[in-house]
Parts: sequence; structure tokens; C-alpha cells
Amino acid sequence: MSAIRSVVLGSGGYLPERVMTNGELSGMVDTSDEWITQRTGIRERRIAADGELTSDLGIEAARSALAKANMTADDIDLIVLATATPDNTFPAAAVSIQEALGMRHGAAFDLQAVCSGFLFALSTADSLIRSGQARRALVIGAETFSRILDWTDRGTCVLFGDGAGAVVLSGESQPGWRTDRGILSAHLRSDGRFKEKLYVDGGPSATGTVGHLRMEGREVFKHAVSMVSDVIEDAFEATGFTAADIDWFVPHQANVRIIDATAKKLGIPLEKVVRTVDRHGNTSAASIPLALWEASKDGRIKRGDLLLLESMGGGFTWGAVLLRW
Ligand code: UT7
Repeated sequence: MSAIRSVVLGSGGYLPERVMTNGELSGMVDTSDEWITQRTGIRERRIAADGELTSDLGIEAARSALAKANMTADDIDLIVLATATPDNTFPAAAVSIQEALGMRHGAAFDLQAVCSGFLFALSTADSLIRSGQARRALVIGAETFSRILDWTDRGTCVLFGDGAGAVVLSGESQPGWRTDRGILSAHLRSDGRFKEKLYVDGGPSATGTVGHLRMEGREVFKHAVSMVSDVIEDAFEATGFTAADIDWFVPHQANVRIIDATAKKLGIPLEKVVRTVDRHGNTSAASIPLALWEASKDGRIKRGDLLLLESMGGGFTWGAVLLRW
């Protein structure tokens, strides 16, 4: 029986020009290149220029994904932007992207699930496409975490970076689920009991200020591998795929130790793991689409490959998506 699947027709990304190295950070807080590299795998991250907004990053990523898909904004009828660092409290940064692309139809909105935002956005766009409410969507993850970091807190400021990634999704009729291209299964989770482990200590309703990111890193680390592995097992159970079927594992890029431990637990060889955390740091909702962009651009991810995407972040939120490229 045929089915409508949300197929990725193009991916794009954008990284701000300015590179901040571990060496530069060790001049700002009591840290070292050795500590950051050993504990996180991060060597450098990008920082948005003064006046460069989340929507500016998202616009560049959207343009590059549209170009790759050989499309223009006329071909798109939905923009879902995953971000925890929007330009303003409202309107959604997605409408600035819509405006910049010259798109006068369809709908654009922001979605907030912090580091899991891209998977939540992907799943939301997929549902709107499969229900017939949209035909083609831009799904974007864009963040400027540099704006919400406490640059005196060595426990957090060394971990994050700015960037944006995007994919174009198109509703396409596919023959049978196992070999279909597109999103095959999406599994989203959250548990608010953990909301104080990773949060921002400000907001329009709570304080009227923007606030700064606060994290109990060790606590987040402790839960990350098991939560992510559990939801991936759910994805395998729902589809019948196993770790042996996966061509590329594209995890959220928070810490190379979390990435490698998850791959090991699942039995996925490290050669099949896409890693960008060394050069991007943790770009929150942008990390998975940036990794997709990089690994498809350099020819690793090819049409027909089975991808496993996963993420975990503030909330806690976590999720897994199986997707055939
Ligand atoms: O994307 C959302 C999800 N976020 C994450 O996944 C982050 C998860 N957490 C982590 O990645 C890790 O917990 C961190 C990288 C944040 C920390 O690594 P850790 O191995 O868990 O270190 P720790 O927090 O247990 O700290 C070990 C030591 C402490 O010193 P004492 O108490 O042992 O004397 C820290 O004060 O390292 C110290 N420390 C630092 N030292 C140098 C903490 N940050 C730094 C630093 N430079 N930047």
C-alpha cells in the first residue's frame, strides 16, 4: 500500500565567521584546551557577529537548503524553526525568515524544545505533511546560544556555539514502508521533573529578562545515554530495524563522550557516527541539521542511506527519528 512520506530533498547550513578556540576561552575563564578537549571533544565553536540574529543564521541555512533542493520559497508552504534563542519574544523568528525569503503564502512558526528542537520540528512538519496540511516544508534549527551564556561560568560557556541548519521536506508518494525514502518513524519524549537540571534563569513571564543558561552538567550527562538509548530502542521496536541496518548515526552534538558511549551501547561502529562537535560545539537545535548538511555535502550520506537521528536536552526533552535519505 502506498504512503505519503516526508522526503528530504535538500539540506543546508550556515556557521558565523568568527571562530572561538579553547585557547581564547582559557584567557577568559579558569579552563584549558586540555580540559575542554578531553571532557567534551570540543576544540572550537562559532560565535555570531554583533547584530547577527538567529533569523539571519536561519535565512542563510534555508537558502542553502532550497538551493540544494533546486527550489525557491514559492515551492514551500511551511516553515518550522526550532530555536530556544529567537530574535525577540515575539513574533516568531520564523516569520522573519519567511519575509526574507519573499514567501507570502503558507505558514511559519517557531518551536521550542531546546537541543531536541530539530527532531520535534521535523516530526511536527512530517505530521502536517502527512495529514495534507502542508506539501513542502523548510525545517530549520537556528541558535545564538552565545547571547544567553554566562561568560564567567566555565561549566557552561565552553560548551556552546552558534549556527543554523535546515532541510527541505517534501510529501512524496512511496511504495512500501521498509524501503521508502523519507521519515519512517519519529519518537518524542519529555519529562518536566528534570526542568531545573538545564534551564535559563529568565524569561518574559518569570523575570521580564532574558536570563542565562544554567546547567548541572554531570546530572545531564548521567541521564543522556540511557534516555537516548531507550527512545532509540522504541524506534527500532516500532519499525523492525536494528542497529545493524543503520548507515549513519547522526546524534545531537553536545559531548563526544555522550555520542561515543551511545553508539557503543547500541552497537553502532564509530565509522558510522557523524561528529561535528569538535568544530561546532553544542549548537542546540542546529546541531543535527548542521551534521546532516556536512555529511551529505562531503558525500558520506547518500540517497537511500538509513539514518538514525537522536537528541537530548533541556526539559528534559529527547527523541529519535529514523529517516531514509
Ligand atoms: O545539549 C544539552 C545537553 N547538555 C549536555 O549533554 C551536557 C552534558 N554534560 C557534560 O557534557 C559534562 O557533564 C560536562 C562537559 C559539562 C562536564 O564534564 P564532567 O566530566 O561531567 O565534569 P564535572 O562537571 O564532573 O567536573 C569535573 C571538574 C570539577 O572540578 P572538581 O569539582 O572535580 O574540582 C569542575 O569544577 O571539572 C571542573 N570544571 C572545569 N575545569 C576546567 C568544570 N568545568 C570546567 C572547565 N575547565 N571548563
